[in-house]
Amino acid sequence: MSDGSSFYITTPIFYVNDVPHIGHAYTEVAADVLARWHRQAGDDTWFLTGTDEHGQKILRTATANGVTPKEWADRLVESAWQPLLKTIDISNDDFIRTTDERHEVNVQLFLQRLFDAGYIYTGEYEGYYCVGCEEYKADSDLVDGTGEYEGQKVCAIHSKPVELLKERNYFFKMSEFSQRLLDLYEENPNFIQPESVRNEIVSFVRRGLTDLSISRQTFDWGVKVPWDESHVVYVWFDALLNYITAAGYGYDDEAFASRWPATHIVGKDIARFHAVIWPAMLMAAGLEVPKQVFGHGWLLVGGEKMSKSKLTGIAPNQITDTFGSDAFRYYFMRAINFGQDGSFSWEDLSARYQAELANGFGNLASRVIAMVTRYFDGVIPDAGVLDAPDQAIRDTEVRVTAAADAAISRLAIHEAIAQVWQLVDELNGYITLQEPWALSKDPANRERLGTVLNTAVRGIGTLAVLLSPVLPVATSKLWTALNGAGAVSDQPIRSAFDWAGGTTVSALEPLFPRIETSETDGSAA
Ligand code: MSP
Repeated sequence: MSDGSSFYITTPIFYVNDVPHIGHAYTEVAADVLARWHRQAGDDTWFLTGTDEHGQKILRTATANGVTPKEWADRLVESAWQPLLKTIDISNDDFIRTTDERHEVNVQLFLQRLFDAGYIYTGEYEGYYCVGCEEYKADSDLVDGTGEYEGQKVCAIHSKPVELLKERNYFFKMSEFSQRLLDLYEENPNFIQPESVRNEIVSFVRRGLTDLSISRQTFDWGVKVPWDESHVVYVWFDALLNYITAAGYGYDDEAFASRWPATHIVGKDIARFHAVIWPAMLMAAGLEVPKQVFGHGWLLVGGEKMSKSKLTGIAPNQITDTFGSDAFRYYFMRAINFGQDGSFSWEDLSARYQAELANGFGNLASRVIAMVTRYFDGVIPDAGVLDAPDQAIRDTEVRVTAAADAAISRLAIHEAIAQVWQLVDELNGYITLQEPWALSKDPANRERLGTVLNTAVRGIGTLAVLLSPVLPVATSKLWTALNGAGAVSDQPIRSAFDWAGGTTVSALEPLFPRIETSETDGSAA
């Protein structure tokens, strides 16, 4: 639907205790591709990302580094998290920090409303807490420690000991929302996707929810509970609210009404917070629940979830410095089915770069432009009578545009790219079969040569428009060489095949230059 409908998309807000790795970048790119696609379709798009700066984890890291938590957060946001967005070409409309005043003030407002409505009470919390997860743990979440933690219970995710908490806290009556949540999952099966994540969450809620401890008293790095300043708000309760405090909740009703509800892209590890706690909080406040929570899979390294704490983290610029940001974006979106886990390997990245980006798309674009330059002095020829193969290319352009758009509406990013790539492959096959270089040898074939190159130019222009959300740098170079009207990122994507271009082509620099890789480990030399 290019009806200008509102599309508000978010990433999780990332903890600033450490620098980003490619797992964080993966979420950013996925949300970015969806945002760019919708923007290019004319939808009223708003893309939010940001940082999660409160809680014990950040406090401890800052203390260990001899600075205040705010100084630490400022340092990491400036030196690592904001630069990440540039490294991988993220087109976010807003960046929220949980230390922003617009956030802190309206977290308090939200909490006060829940308190006034009777959803909050005081109680005694006794149980285990994992500072790595910033989460209260049930016994079933714990496993026996090994090595230095032998004999202790450790968090199954972080493999580090949990801490026993015994505090007087404020509680949110989450248990009252079990049935309403189950009804929501049933009435709107798309609310949680993919299916595997949905099933896990439905069975978790079916077992019945307990109330949630939402404040802490033993440290003070957080938003103060408005009616009792000896408590700070539990970091997840605080963090989830970023999605509405950034959208105007409490201070810009108009913006909030036009943006909310959002589509949340999160890793599957935190889907439960987003699909259980978050909608329950919103229901209690009388607000709309999110449009959708999509829990994507993990990037695996050596078969395990990649993470800095397990020393398997890879920094995004280790990849972009060699392959460029477009290749980073393309690789992770193409090679991994969005929603499933996927293993990262340098070999696979290099192989796809060479075969799909350099040989498949890059060469196609440069050959077509070179032939128009050589045979028609750079003037794009008109098409004569269309033969079946020419018409087939035009049909494919229309078909893959619709199919890719349908895939994007299901958040099947990998499928959208695979659809568009059918056009890359068909165009390559078309040129091989039509042999424009052979046609050019006989002036009697002049019109036919024109039709073939016109078809090919139309095709690569359509590719530029369709691939712009994934490959913003390369497609914009190609668009310039095609003398297309305006910016490629402004071309209506749902009618990509109708793109308007200039009448001539200009020189095109190589879109995906050759990269020498070392043969022993496949990594870039
Ligand atoms: N601060 C919370 C989120 C609060 S949202 C209201 C948090 N932050 S985090 O820094 O730990 O980032 C978690 C997110 O990073 C995951 O949900 C996921 O999107 C991404 N990933 C972290 N490691 C990842 C992989 N190994 N693979 C894929 N994504 C991963 O949790």
